[in-house]
Amino acid sequence: MRQALNLVGVGPSGSGKSSFLVPLLQAKKERTRYLVVFNTSDQLSEFCNHREYVSFEALSKDYDPEAIAALIQSHGSVHFEVARGNTESFVNAVCAAVMSLGEKDADKCIVTVIFEEARNFLKKYKMPERASQLEAEGRKYGIDLIKVDQRLQSQGDDCLDSAAYVNATVVVVFPTSDFNQRQRIMQAFPGIPDPLELRPPVPGKMPGEYAVFDRETGQKALIKRDESGARRCEVIL
Ligand SMILES: Nc1ncnc2c1ncn2[C@@H]1O[C@H](COP(=O)(O)OP(=O)(O)OP(=O)(O)O)[C@@H](O)[C@H]1O
Ligand SMILES: [Mg+2]
Repeated sequence: MRQALNLVGVGPSGSGKSSFLVPLLQAKKERTRYLVVFNTSDQLSEFCNHREYVSFEALSKDYDPEAIAALIQSHGSVHFEVARGNTESFVNAVCAAVMSLGEKDADKCIVTVIFEEARNFLKKYKMPERASQLEAEGRKYGIDLIKVDQRLQSQGDDCLDSAAYVNATVVVVFPTSDFNQRQRIMQAFPGIPDPLELRPPVPGKMPGEYAVFDRETGQKALIKRDESGARRCEVIL
């Protein structure tokens, strides 16, 4: 059976998360039958065939997973720009739709789901049940999950639910000097490089650095930049 991707990326504002998603999304579009993007802004909508805006008022509607599945099937790739609010029932409906599109024991990726600013959709203590199901079972159905956010954990609830990262097979860390976040990242994913060692992007001039940690093999890669901004990959076994 194909090894599904369950990626979580963490870093503060301006650390390069969205820039990292662009080439990933472009590559994924070629290799996935259906693509679904959740975002709080229209960022990344240019890579999708269809966009839907879900307003604050619309979040209280009852969404039909079958209708959402049909929408995804007819367009191939759908970008949902969702207002901030209680997104739980909307996310449940989309995740149920995604699950219904998956194929048992698929040998290729059927659906890729991207959660940008993921804590708005997979919030601590409010993890939508169908999103938990995707986390637990999606890999058997050819469903890849990609989540990026500013905060892995916090004392309050303005961060990801642990169910959104405990099953991650790949962790990407972006530069941060924030002591608490560094400790939390390194405790949650033992063996991950210290994000303090990475340099953030210089807006408009230089790409940022990041570290990739494959939790299944234990392999680590540091994506570094040189003085000209060119990137190189250092693999640490
Ligand atoms: N390769 C690059 N070359 C030049 N500038 C870059 C590059 N990569 C990122 N940047 C710039 O760095 C800034 C921050 O990057 P990005 O938007 O990806 O961060 P982010 O982590 O998504 O932030 P936020 O959490 O606020 O959404 C942006 O202004 C972006 O244009
Ligand atoms: Mg961003």
